[in-house]
Amino acid sequence: MIVCQCRRVSEKAIRKAVRKGHRKVSQVSQATGAGSGCGTCRETVRSVVRDEKEKVSAEGGVLLSASAASASSPA
Ligand code: FES
Repeated sequence: MIVCQCRRVSEKAIRKAVRKGHRKVSQVSQATGAGSGCGTCRETVRSVVRDEKEKVSAEGGVLLSASAASASSPA
């Protein structure tokens, strides 16, 4: 499902960004572009970010920091 129509960002892409360590809506927005257009999707983006963080926490997982995630990603 597309959450951000302006930037064509899916819910899946937002969840993936959270799992890569982008914990804040601003970080997810910077990483995916979601919410950086008209702004009408920001509340939905916020809710997906919150939900995914809760999901990771319930799974007993630890969210990486964005810098740690990018440091471990292949170039
Ligand atoms: S719908 Fe996401 S910024 Fe416009």
